Amino acid sequence: MSGQADTYVELKHINKNFKNFVAGDDITFAVEKGKLVGLLGPSGSGKTTILRILAGLEPADSGEIFIAGREVSHVPASRRGIGFVFQNYALFRYRNVFDNIAFGLKVNHWKKQDIRDRVNELMELVGLTGLEDRYPKQLSGGQRQRVAFARALAVEPQLLLLDEPFAAIDAKVRKELRLWLRELISRVGITSIFVTHDQEEAVEMADEIIIINRGKIEQIGTPAEVYENPRTPFVQDFLS
Ligand SMILES: Nc1ncnc2c1ncn2[C@@H]1O[C@H](COP(=O)(O)OP(=O)(O)O)[C@@H](O)[C@H]1O
Ligand SMILES: [Mg+2]
Repeated sequence: MSGQADTYVELKHINKNFKNFVAGDDITFAVEKGKLVGLLGPSGSGKTTILRILAGLEPADSGEIFIAGREVSHVPASRRGIGFVFQNYALFRYRNVFDNIAFGLKVNHWKKQDIRDRVNELMELVGLTGLEDRYPKQLSGGQRQRVAFARALAVEPQLLLLDEPFAAIDAKVRKELRLWLRELISRVGITSIFVTHDQEEAVEMADEIIIINRGKIEQIGTPAEVYENPRTPFVQDFLS
């Protein structure tokens, strides 16, 4: 056990090197249950690496990870109760929307009728009811991302990780989707961590922002705190 009662995720002294490159340098932070936290930093600063280590897709060199008070450092990705929406984690092109969302449920051997009910519920949740039979290429970028969210939420994970989920979407739709996603996450009540290099996106969406530079945490705080009180020259510069 570790942290405070309402801590849901905790990383402690995570280090990660690729050859001689430091991608994670003593990364320590905690996320409260139900919060939406943004990992913000420039390209190459180590954001994706942190998410992959948390998800169990990449081993850390050292350090510990706790989810719901349980040490999961050696628990496989599939058993960490995590849903993903990754930038390059595309939909299955040759499956329709229904089958894309149903995928994880089938893997978990849900009964046919339960799958149908759950997919219908998710379609309604993400506002896509009626588009079950469409294929990904028959959807807009924004609709595709909604399917990706529905698929990630299907098996009721306790933690949602999103890696630059709006990167491939044009600016106008991106803005709408951000607000939509923020609202959806608070409605579902799922603890979530998203990665972005976009300050505006982080400020608009996150309850709390973690600013990363060269594999190191520069500052953690609410959007107002980090803007009003940048603690390092990097943060000052990056947010201006
Ligand atoms: N599998 C890997 N092998 C070698 N270097 C890697 C690997 N994955 C990431 N890196 C390096 O680690 C650094 C951080 O990468 P990443 O976590 O993807 O940053 P970000 O998501 O912030 O853009 C980058 O310099 C990248 O080139
Ligand atoms: Mg990345």
